[in-house]
Amino acid sequence: MVPFGQAKIRPSVLACPPMICQPLFVNFLSLIEAKRDGKALACDDIRLFVTAYVRGEIPDYQVAALLMAIYFRGLNAEETRVLTLAMRNSGDVLKFPEDPRPIVDKHSTGGIGDKVSLPLAPLLACLGFRVPMISGRGLGITGGTLDKIESIPGFSTQLTRERLIAQVQEIGVAMGGQTPTMVPADRLLYALRDVTATVPSIPLITASILSKKLAEDISALVLDVKFGSAAFMQRRGQAHELAINMTKIANESGVKTRAMITDMNAPLGRAAGNWLEVKESIECLENRGPEDLRELVIDSAAHLLVLTNRARDLAAARQQASDMLASGAPRRKWDELLVAQGADINAFNEKLRRERIANMVVEVRSDRDGFVSRCDARMAGELVRDLGGGRLTKDSVIDFDVGIDGIKPIGSQVKCGDVLCRVHVRTLEQADDAMNRMQVAFEISREPVQRPPLVVEVL
Ligand code: URA
Repeated sequence: MVPFGQAKIRPSVLACPPMICQPLFVNFLSLIEAKRDGKALACDDIRLFVTAYVRGEIPDYQVAALLMAIYFRGLNAEETRVLTLAMRNSGDVLKFPEDPRPIVDKHSTGGIGDKVSLPLAPLLACLGFRVPMISGRGLGITGGTLDKIESIPGFSTQLTRERLIAQVQEIGVAMGGQTPTMVPADRLLYALRDVTATVPSIPLITASILSKKLAEDISALVLDVKFGSAAFMQRRGQAHELAINMTKIANESGVKTRAMITDMNAPLGRAAGNWLEVKESIECLENRGPEDLRELVIDSAAHLLVLTNRARDLAAARQQASDMLASGAPRRKWDELLVAQGADINAFNEKLRRERIANMVVEVRSDRDGFVSRCDARMAGELVRDLGGGRLTKDSVIDFDVGIDGIKPIGSQVKCGDVLCRVHVRTLEQADDAMNRMQVAFEISREPVQRPPLVVEVL
């Protein structure tokens, strides 16, 4: 029998035939103990840990324990950098052919209703960039780009390196996920963190996001670092620290990087839930839709235009991005992207035309006259997750079509009886629960309320 902590558990037959597969760790337990006791891990041990975990040589329960120790004890700057690069190097690192179009990307630390990547990716391709966007699934209560785009009938997110490069070269954009060969370490750790309450950790978020982005051969990156009730960093100061950490490692790795610190106390846009967010992204691509979503899409594109010297300043860059959005080209690029990744465009358009996909829609109404002063993004995110739109375990199956839409933004004037939001549900039981929970999520004040600024700082 193999004692706890002395690996050679679950040897990965696919990655490495048993005949030649030697365990990399003889005693992983000592690593957990070291971090539990607040000691720094040796660089080589971090690299070995990542390799061994990807090869299936360390059981999830031990890695979960290490993640929890990291959550409480943290990683220093060097440990974080080494973990990031080890995770990036756990799979293929892209190398694109020489081309005048800069390779860029954007990533968010995660929020409720945060669908910015969906309209942004085709917009960037139309602005003359190449965008090999590797994203993640929902994490905690926050939605994930991969889950959202998988609500599109037939859309495939599991792209090989060759296919991803060829598609980006041809149409300027691809949207995929971690795979067994692209950043596999993040694929495994991401799923484990999601269900072990170890997501809100500055070094773990830094390594997760940057391992994906640094594997893309990009020259510029914009990060959306969120703070607030539904963000992993609840306080602005923590978001600032996370942004400093990420921009430092990314810039030192040769990627020109800027971070926007943005408010995540209320949902972004008017919809939260996988398919409903795709629908809202189409509105944005058609130059309609919520103002806050549009602001973040335009700002993200503008920062990348400035970082790559394609615009003289932010004002000119914003104008360039909003003119491009208004031209309709990004909407057409979106369809091109769907076709390239195997989506059934007729089924997609048919789904888009339907008012709802879930069995029923319930309306949450204001019980007084006044102004919307709060719509708690955490409560909204927890509701979407509990309706089946997010995961409670690694094996949870996502219900793409449940969620919330028509969310009244902060500052809106409402009369008693006005609809504050609608919830798309499967069952009557869910309908009752959703009504009660969203009623509490909203607060209506007698006095007029200003919507707080969305982007509070740029680093
Ligand atoms: N997005 C990621 O890709 N990883 C995290 O840890 C958080 C948000």
